[in-house]
Amino acid sequence: MKFVVLGPGRMGTALTLALTSLGHSVLAAHGRVPDSRASQQYQSLTGVPVIGWEALAPYVREADVVLLTVPDKAVTVMAETLADEGWIDNGTVMIHTAGSLSAAALQPVESRGALRLCMHPLQTIADPAKGASLFQGVYFTLDGDDDAVLLAQQWIEAWGGIPLSIRPDQRPAYHAAAALASNAVVALASVAAQVSGLPDGLKALLPLLHGAVDNLDKLGLPTALTGPVERGDLSTVNAHLSALQHNPTALSVYAALGKATADVARSKESLSQQQWEDFQQLFTSVLGGM
Ligand SMILES: NC(=O)c1ccc[n+]([C@@H]2O[C@H](COP(=O)([O-])OP(=O)(O)OC[C@H]3O[C@@H](n4cnc5c(N)ncnc54)[C@H](OP(=O)(O)O)[C@@H]3O)[C@@H](O)[C@H]2O)c1
Repeated sequence: MKFVVLGPGRMGTALTLALTSLGHSVLAAHGRVPDSRASQQYQSLTGVPVIGWEALAPYVREADVVLLTVPDKAVTVMAETLADEGWIDNGTVMIHTAGSLSAAALQPVESRGALRLCMHPLQTIADPAKGASLFQGVYFTLDGDDDAVLLAQQWIEAWGGIPLSIRPDQRPAYHAAAALASNAVVALASVAAQVSGLPDGLKALLPLLHGAVDNLDKLGLPTALTGPVERGDLSTVNAHLSALQHNPTALSVYAALGKATADVARSKESLSQQQWEDFQQLFTSVLGGM
């Protein structure tokens, strides 16, 4: 199939490499600044030219699939502009990759007869040069028109990924979960490194982080949980809270996650109902006092 990519950034680059590895052809990419550093990197990694808006029309008209890998706020604006230009033909597939937005974000091209799809990989793409290998074992959520969903399922399976259908109204909560599992872990590591007082806190904490993820992978929830809350050790938790008194961000993170930790410990049956209530009351009072 023939593709055009609008937004030659990290996702655009990774998907271009992944799609061309399946034998598809990416005709051109569009960036607002075709000679920006990101566009130059896209061209050198993919061999696909990045072109300006004035040269785009014939490529979009020739493409079977238009891939919008622009920031979330630009998805609908871009779809609207393409619809207004009259470049989208009946049966063109238009795809965006913003996890919090459903295929309805592409509503402007519906009246042009385009098929719409949101295809969101549950993966963080910092090094797009890895291409299709980034998607091995990765879940992709899909919502949109049936024929477009079927196409995407084939690509995802060829990359070794796992396609999942999702209801459009699930997307905001689903995407909040993705942010918690990825961005929040990075933020948590930053807070922990700072609190540790160690010269290279992050480096020292990394084996612990890897161990926790490994436990989640091998043992799952709730078995993976260890630590003072899981042991019902209220005095150690009180000592932690005292140590964090002068760091409001760390204190609120600790207390909010403490409530969730107590829930996991309770579901593991390592806390009695009374112990669970004591922890909940303690953490709630810390959060309420902030
Ligand atoms: N990276 C990830 O880990 C990841 C994971 C899952 C989903 N996503 C989704 O993938 C999409 C792209 O994210 P990304 O991380 O690849 O972003 P990115 O690396 O910042 O790339 C965004 C691209 O869009 C272009 N662009 C920026 N602002 C624009 C605008 N207002 N109008 C049109 N084009 C614009 C940029 O090029 P110019 O500035 O030259 O136009 C750039 O090529 C987003 O919807 C994001 O939610 C990303």
